[in-house]
Amino acid sequence: MNLKGKTILITGGGSGIGLEAAKQFLAIGAKVIITGRNQSKLDDAVKSYPTLIAIQSDAGNEEDASALFYKIRELGGIDILYNNAGVGVPPINLGIANDAHLKGAAYEMEVNYFGVIHLNNLFMEMLKSREESAIINTTSILSMVPSLIEATYSASKSALAFYTTSLREHLRIIGANVKVFELLPPLVDTDMVADRTDKKISKEQLVKGLINGLQQDEYTIRVGDSKLIYFLSRYLPKFSFRLINPAKTNLLLKP
Ligand SMILES: NC(=O)c1ccc[n+]([C@@H]2O[C@H](COP(=O)([O-])OP(=O)(O)OC[C@H]3O[C@@H](n4cnc5c(N)ncnc54)[C@H](OP(=O)(O)O)[C@@H]3O)[C@@H](O)[C@H]2O)c1
Repeated sequence: MNLKGKTILITGGGSGIGLEAAKQFLAIGAKVIITGRNQSKLDDAVKSYPTLIAIQSDAGNEEDASALFYKIRELGGIDILYNNAGVGVPPINLGIANDAHLKGAAYEMEVNYFGVIHLNNLFMEMLKSREESAIINTTSILSMVPSLIEATYSASKSALAFYTTSLREHLRIIGANVKVFELLPPLVDTDMVADRTDKKISKEQLVKGLINGLQQDEYTIRVGDSKLIYFLSRYLPKFSFRLINPAKTNLLLKP
């Protein structure tokens, strides 16, 4: 798809992958609106990129999402909804069979899964009315193979991946002109995984891969190790599971 001249809403665009995407989309001539919960982060982003429009909004909160929809409609609407906002609750400290673990899992589903469905539903008619439009859902390498230390996060991304495939097919069947992309990042160097020492790719590299995939209408966008894990998970599932869960990380799970 052509990105130049398009208006793109990026949820969670105040830092990390979302802000890097905002920067690269602006550079190719798109208009970009970002959201986030933390106003000071959004203010800093606008200071760095003054053409950005920033709206404070929590992607996991239904009232915020509705207010965001009406604000954006007043601004003239969007062509692309990029669901980037996502959370992972550190499970290592939570164990696997207690209330805190369950609360963490519910919060991950609220933001990573239900929040995305809610925003997609709100913006669907607007997107359908555009000449060329798209939804981008951010899953993860962990939507293909679960991480034992991020079990509920992996599950939330896996749920989002199945929903994304079904949404794409549903829209095709009803003849709606809305492209549905899935971005599967590997480990990317952002605040979310600041404490991880494993191999990471840069935000720049991930977003270059995203933009390339969008421009080629490649609906499932795997970047870096996500490509390798995709093939290994199909043909050598036990091996791919061990790559994602090396023996040394299993030690973290022991009391
Ligand atoms: N980094 C990785 O290795 C990796 C790998 C696979 C997938 N992903 C996915 O890629 C996406 C971006 O990750 P990232 O690494 O850039 O994360 P990050 O560094 O933690 O940044 C997330 C951004 O989203 C915002 N945000 C978080 N929760 C939000 C909410 N409920 N509503 C609105 N904004 C929210 C945060 O700002 P506020 O706190 O101000 O809201 C922050 O600006 C996520 O969906 C993540 O699951 C990341």
